[in-house]
This record gives sequence, C-alpha cells and structure tokens, in this order.
Amino acid sequence: MSIKCAILGATGMVGQRFVELLSGAKDFPTRDFEISALYASERSAGKKYRDACHWVLDSEMPESIADMEVVNYLPEADIYFSALPSGTAKDIERRLADKGCIVCSNASDNRMAEDVPLVIPEINSQHLELVKDRQGYIVANPNCSTIILCLALKPLSGFGIEALNVTTMQALSGAGYPGVSSIDIENNILPYIKNEEDKIESEPLKIFGRLENGRIKRADFRISASCTRVNVIEGHTLSIQVKLRDNPDIEEIKEAFRSFKGLSLPSAPEKPVILREEEDRPQPRKDLGNGFSISVGRIRKDSVLGYKMFAVGSNTVRGAAGASILNAELLSASGYL
Ligand SMILES: NC(=O)c1ccc[n+]([C@@H]2O[C@H](COP(=O)([O-])OP(=O)(O)OC[C@H]3O[C@@H](n4cnc5c(N)ncnc54)[C@H](OP(=O)(O)O)[C@@H]3O)[C@@H](O)[C@H]2O)c1
Repeated sequence: MSIKCAILGATGMVGQRFVELLSGAKDFPTRDFEISALYASERSAGKKYRDACHWVLDSEMPESIADMEVVNYLPEADIYFSALPSGTAKDIERRLADKGCIVCSNASDNRMAEDVPLVIPEINSQHLELVKDRQGYIVANPNCSTIILCLALKPLSGFGIEALNVTTMQALSGAGYPGVSSIDIENNILPYIKNEEDKIESEPLKIFGRLENGRIKRADFRISASCTRVNVIEGHTLSIQVKLRDNPDIEEIKEAFRSFKGLSLPSAPEKPVILREEEDRPQPRKDLGNGFSISVGRIRKDSVLGYKMFAVGSNTVRGAAGASILNAELLSASGYL
C-alpha cells in the first residue's frame, strides 16, 4: 500500500527535490511514497504546480505532478515532508504533530527541541526512540552542511573526536530560490551565511549525543565553524581539521572510510561516504553522484589539530530532501509509520 505524502513548501528549491525524488522523475529506487498534496504560500495557492513553480532542476518537471493544484491549507496525508522556510515551519509543523501527524522536516525551527530527534540514519537511528509510542511527531534532518560534516566524521568517531574546525564553501542552491543576487556572488565569495555557523557548531553534538533516560545527552567535542557562500550551483564543500584522541595513522583513517557501510533502506547508498584518493578530489562538479553519498578526500596530517580533509556533498539531496526521505524510510522500516 502506498504512503500518501504532502510536500510543504513544494514550489521551492528543496520542495522541487522532493517532487523529483518522490515521483521517480530520476532513476531512484521505487518507493512506497505517493505525492498526494502540494502545499505552498498564498501566492501559489489555487495554481497548477507547473504555473506556481519556477522549476530549476536539470530534470524535467514530472508530468504526473505538473497539473496538480497547489494548496495553502493543510491537507490530509500519512506523512508531511516539510521544506518550509524557517520562521514559517515552526508553528505549522507543531500543529501537525499535535494533531497526530508525522512530519519529516528540513527546517531549522524545531531541530533542537528536546522532543524532536535530529536524525541521520547511518549515525543515530536509535534517537527515534524519542518518538516511540507517540501518534504525532516531528523528525528533523540536520542543516545541509551539518549532514555532510557528520557523515565525514562518523567513520572517525571510533578514534575519539576531541575538537574540529570546519570552513564551508556552500552552493547557491542552498540559499533557496531566487537566493543570492548574481551581482553579489559573481566573481566573489561571501564570508557570511546568517545563523549557519551556530547550527554547524551545535547540531552535531545532538546527533552524536547519547540517548539516556528518554533524553539526548549532547556529545562534548568542540566545533568551530566558518561559513561562506561560493559561486557553485549545487554541492557544498567543507574543509575540515580534526583532533582525534587515538592519533591513528592516515592509512587507518582511510581504512575506516573504506569499511563504513550503508544501511538497508531503499534510498540509502551502499557506501554513504566515498573516499577519493586523487590529489584534486573531491569536487562538487564531479563527486555528487546521485546525491545520497558524500565524498571525502585529501586526508592528511595537520600541524595544528592533527588531521585535515575535504568533504563534498549534495546540499539539496543528502543535505535536504533526500535526508528527509531517508528518515521516512527509516521510520517505515522501524515500524513507526
Ligand atoms: N536549499 C537547501 O539546500 C536547503 C538545505 C537544507 C535545508 N533547507 C531548509 O529547507 C527549507 C526550504 O528551503 P528552500 O531552499 O527550498 O527555500 P525556498 O526555495 O525559498 O522555498 C520556500 C518554499 O516555502 C513556501 N513558503 C514560503 N512562505 C510560506 C508560507 N508563509 N506559507 C506556506 N508556504 C510558504 C514557498 O512557496 P511559494 O513558492 O508559494 O512562495 C516555497 O515553496 C528552509 O527551511 C531551509 O532552511 C534548505
């Protein structure tokens, strides 16, 4: 039986990824999800999706969705995928959860709430315990850069992460549509993304936290983040320096990446983290794959914190819509849906 899903913020950058992935417009595994409603602002309400949405993805807008009407009331659905802007998401998601509905959210508004698991399935699926036995709830996925960072860190967690420094080079699609003005970004780098550094410095501590007596006890490593916007359409690049308690050699670190296995979920990649050994990889133009895996490379010693590397991942797939879909697949596989 198919699971009926409503996409909230369906006309935006992340909403379009949801439509693309869930409608099977690209070559992704068949899923049990069926798009039953498209929700956006009053500006779009009453219009056909093809008229309300300025489609910016490389794939074609799916014909099966193009004639659906966009609504501005909350429709009935089995699950709600939220790609609402922060500020707007908070109350709408809470209202749905209070009514007994299940929300998988991309928005930052409810991510750090005590009763909301902030989940990357390969890292902390056990945090779903927070919503066990509840009828309505929100499961959030982290900020796009946080997801790429945490996936890059997960294989290293056995060596004891003590501190890290991360500089992000974030793609334009991460700012939504129409996003950053071309006059501002052309031939330029913007050294500021509002609220982003706070998210990257706090969310990983919840994700790597331990579930104790029904609460998440935060991890206690230190994180310093600096965020930039760069003139790349899709794919965030992170430069990461990390201090590891056990001082492994570089080959041990590479082996940890090579042996890191994926989960058995329809959209989960066999290898969530791909190790690139070339001297000039990973790159956002070459290493996004189908968007669900991230890539790491240039793993080397660092004279300040011990180790450094680059990580690259798709901000709208693994960093947003795909992350929510993976969480929904995890909920379904774990009997929560
Ligand atoms: N872009 C990324 O890579 C990325 C990654 C991770 C997380 N996120 C998060 O995902 C969310 C969506 O981001 P985005 O980049 O897709 O933004 P976006 O392109 O600006 O899209 C916003 C969507 O929300 C709708 N919307 C705006 N105000 C609304 C309102 N008052 N009521 C109902 N719907 C409203 C818009 O509908 P209209 O078309 O009708 O205005 C549009 O569908 C944000 O919370 C963002 O932080 C984004």
